[in-house]
Amino acid sequence: MKTKLIILILLCLSANLQLWAQPSGRENFDANWRFHLGDIAGAETVSFPDQKWRELDLPHDWSIEGSFRPDNPSGHQGGLLPGGIGWYRKKFNLTAIAEKKYFIEFDGVYKNSTVYLNGHPLGTRPYGYATFQYDLTPYIQKGENVLAVKVDNSKQPDSRWYTGAGIYRHVWMITTSPIYVGQWGTFVTTPKVSTHEATVNVVTTIANDTKQKANLKITSTVVDHSGKEVASQTQAGKANSNSKFELKTFIKVNSPKLWDFENPNLYKLVTKVYQGKDLKDTYTTTFGIRSLEFRADSGFYLNGKNVKILGVCNHHDLGSLGSALNNRALQRQLELLKSMGCNGIRCSHNLMAPELLELCDQMGFLVMDETFDCWYIGKDAAPFGFQNYFKDWHEREITDMVLRDRNHPSVIFWSIGNEIKEQWFPGSTNGGEIARELVASIKKYDTTRFTTSAFNFVRDAEKKGMTSAVDVVGFNYSIDAYDEIRQKHPDWFYLASETTSQFDSRGVYHFTLDTIVKTYPDCQTSAFDDAGGGTTAEEAWLAVKSRPWMSGMYVWTGFDYMGEPAPYEKQAVSSYFGIFDLCGFPKDSYYFYKSQWTQEPIVHLLPHWNWKEGQLVDVVAYTNCDQVKLYLNNQLLETRQLANTRKLSLRWKVPFTAGTLKAEGYKNGKVVATGMVRTAGDPAKIELSADRSTIHSDGKDLSFITVKVTDENGTLVPNADNLIHFELEGEGKIVGVGNGNAMSQEPAKGNERKAFSGMCQVVVQSTGKKGNIILKAFSLGLQDEKITITSN
Ligand code: GAL
Repeated sequence: MKTKLIILILLCLSANLQLWAQPSGRENFDANWRFHLGDIAGAETVSFPDQKWRELDLPHDWSIEGSFRPDNPSGHQGGLLPGGIGWYRKKFNLTAIAEKKYFIEFDGVYKNSTVYLNGHPLGTRPYGYATFQYDLTPYIQKGENVLAVKVDNSKQPDSRWYTGAGIYRHVWMITTSPIYVGQWGTFVTTPKVSTHEATVNVVTTIANDTKQKANLKITSTVVDHSGKEVASQTQAGKANSNSKFELKTFIKVNSPKLWDFENPNLYKLVTKVYQGKDLKDTYTTTFGIRSLEFRADSGFYLNGKNVKILGVCNHHDLGSLGSALNNRALQRQLELLKSMGCNGIRCSHNLMAPELLELCDQMGFLVMDETFDCWYIGKDAAPFGFQNYFKDWHEREITDMVLRDRNHPSVIFWSIGNEIKEQWFPGSTNGGEIARELVASIKKYDTTRFTTSAFNFVRDAEKKGMTSAVDVVGFNYSIDAYDEIRQKHPDWFYLASETTSQFDSRGVYHFTLDTIVKTYPDCQTSAFDDAGGGTTAEEAWLAVKSRPWMSGMYVWTGFDYMGEPAPYEKQAVSSYFGIFDLCGFPKDSYYFYKSQWTQEPIVHLLPHWNWKEGQLVDVVAYTNCDQVKLYLNNQLLETRQLANTRKLSLRWKVPFTAGTLKAEGYKNGKVVATGMVRTAGDPAKIELSADRSTIHSDGKDLSFITVKVTDENGTLVPNADNLIHFELEGEGKIVGVGNGNAMSQEPAKGNERKAFSGMCQVVVQSTGKKGNIILKAFSLGLQDEKITITSN
């Protein structure tokens, strides 16, 4: 009763706020759902007794809460976590039913969801990455309403990577007048761009769901980041009853601030729909003013400036949070990537949460939006994958991708698929035809971006007419085909859509660098760039760097992800490919890319410095300095210059003596960077550090706490695997623990974690109240430690 009352008050309050702010509204609908794991008859009905179900707020992923089990049908490829069927229910009250439209929008439900309002089915959406909306108006009522969602992720394996399960992205309730701008109802493009003046084209789709014709006035106003109106247009429009119509206009913006990845300037288009003096709807669209161009000889141009795309591919899971979306977790990933000089994200191999694209707009990343990992022919590892739905759903999915994402300045590519088997599959001949059909579906709704596909059998794809169907040919790996294809088609545009696939375990080193071994008995891989996987990072980057016509690259992958644990497909549960591990801790390759992709002077030394006396150790320095001096216990071993090597990194073989190995980096004769590794003693202490020590008390914000096992002197113990326990007091809760070990089957939810290569992580979330959050860490034989975070 008490909760009902609070919901009622909140609804009235938000209704009032909306009236004050705008006549129609988009309200977050994540709070106060009930959840039941397992199928249950009648759960869609209004009277179903759900009082005993678990209460939770969305986004929610039930897979990550489960146990790793060899008999989970997802298999190692899917991360060994459970799928199954789950039900969600939410009750909400309406004090009055005005003459309004009500919509419910799901940013993503994995997968096969069926939504009911007050017992009436609204629809089923098989694809787990789609954003979809239902009209609630016909069944909504005054008083209590019951929304029920069945989620069916029981048919597994359905993916080559971890997907998660549940309503794992945000849900929105949209309330509008019956005369309104529809879902994804604006399309903003910038056909003419200069720093002097830009033309902003606007197409607005307005729906009139009343029984009367309506004479309308529509204002489209461009507002800059400070809220200042910079230009406006007013149009008149006639809307027939129960129909939609489209209005086109263009707006000139003087001295526009252009969007690019260094200065991601954004504007808002505020659309207002009036009937007489009555404001019927307000709709806000964020956009950027920028121009995109490809040239056959020199690659990609942003606002007329030639730039290389320095990107990474990512899957959607967020380490110990699983696939449950969290804005801060995404923002942190992008901050880490930015610090490496990364300027691009490939959404592999499906639509991502809208929040990712919003962050890419705000932070400046060049995005490849991608729809499918297969067409009609599925991948072997995923017999229940999207191939089973492709025939009926591909048109809808590709159209919705474009309609949903076409206002984001960050999006520059539409990819029609990743490593599609129709390229090479024996007997398959329709690859070209399907590619042309998919491209045509995209071009129907957007011709301002470039279509592409990630081809791994590019020679076959060329023969089948698949490469000629797209604007930009994406090479997945296949460095040996780069020049051959380009010589045949010098007027085409090219991209390294996927590169590298190097296996790296953070902080683990196997010797020697001259002997390449793919697998080791400890089921870890070496963090040296030693080609256990596809190609070395160095080789992949050189291949792109040295070819001006190659517009850039997306490295596989920025972050480790759950599932696809090659090369230990039968032992491990998460990937080894990331430049960052599952916790977001950088592996050594991070420093390689940073040395190449930024101007910041850097010397990074690897491996750690705990070996056997006299052992010959391979030492590598990632650097962008002219000259590096290597010292062991303050004795100069050697001075080397990168320019004298054909490589992008420096290498030595050093006989091990305990102490300090130090590298000084010089530019113009001055030391500008230093790298150091030091021999650690036995584990003695725990060190805690938070990425942010003050977080928002909104119940969503996160602090990522790094836990290090150190010796007496504070030096990281590189092979420490102590089990650390955590206790939390105050206005926070632990929402995840991790250590980046692809072999670890410890639960992601809990109060303890073993260190891996000396480190683990606790993710703390605010509760919704202000106050201190105190995290204590303790472990047998180690000194306790605590850290305080403020929730504000
Ligand atoms: C690629 C594929 C990715 C991932 C990667 C691992 O061929 O596109 O999804 O599987 O291999 O190396």
